[in-house]
Amino acid sequence: MIGRGLLERLEKANKLDRLGDPLQRKLQEGLRGRVRDALHGVWLGHPLHPAIVQVPIGAWFSAAVLDALPRMETCATVLVGVGTASAVPAIAAGWNDWSDLATAPRRVGLVHAVANAVGVGLYGASLVARLTGNHRLGKQLAYGGLGAVSLGGYLGAHIVYRFAAGVNQAAPIEQQIPEGWHDLCEFRALGDNQKLVAHIGEIPVLVSRTGDTVTAMVERCGHETGPLGEGEVVQVDGSACVVCPWHGSTFRLADGAVVRGPATTDQPTLRTRINRGCVQAALA
Ligand code: FES
Repeated sequence: MIGRGLLERLEKANKLDRLGDPLQRKLQEGLRGRVRDALHGVWLGHPLHPAIVQVPIGAWFSAAVLDALPRMETCATVLVGVGTASAVPAIAAGWNDWSDLATAPRRVGLVHAVANAVGVGLYGASLVARLTGNHRLGKQLAYGGLGAVSLGGYLGAHIVYRFAAGVNQAAPIEQQIPEGWHDLCEFRALGDNQKLVAHIGEIPVLVSRTGDTVTAMVERCGHETGPLGEGEVVQVDGSACVVCPWHGSTFRLADGAVVRGPATTDQPTLRTRINRGCVQAALA
């Protein structure tokens, strides 16, 4: 309960916005295109940041174990060095993800980043102390660093589990679609190169047509449920794609493939058919 109270206060700490607002704008302006997609993990099909933070955390935790054992100074120093160096790409990926967060998770993310920055600073100082022969100080600094990055990890997990940041939010929507074929709209209501939003029960489905080909995908963006039905259709490498109006994730209409982040997973698509002039869809 104490932890929950602190987390709620952090989520509501609007004073953090004085720093968070301009910083987020600067990052959005500075990080663009392929670099931004690479740091999000579009190429990986999974958010990059939580995957690569395993390297520094693993190295630092292993160093902490070795520091408790006799005559392990050299091995521990190597692990502290590996952890500190590998934190650099993890930090870059983390700031990139942070730049797309909504207000409350962004506040928590800011404190997450500060805790980790303190941790990385302590590990850097620990490395210097070890390399200059002061292993006793090096161990003390490293244990301080472990405490700071543990707090950072706790807050990072909160951003994921409380706010579903980085989670494919289209998957639970897709799972609500019942088996079997469902009517979406009249085929003739859909002009060539047009799209519309139909519904299966309460679930919005983006239907689009090119010539005689009709495609359908879950209409809520997998990144943070932005309305793809309000998105612009653009050509990317010769394929028609829809751009999410919220943060610009871009999905190929034909198969839902993500071609631009921050989404890192493909948008769920449905099978389609025309039955007596009616467009129907079913789970793929
Ligand atoms: S909701 Fe963020 S890109 Fe669609």
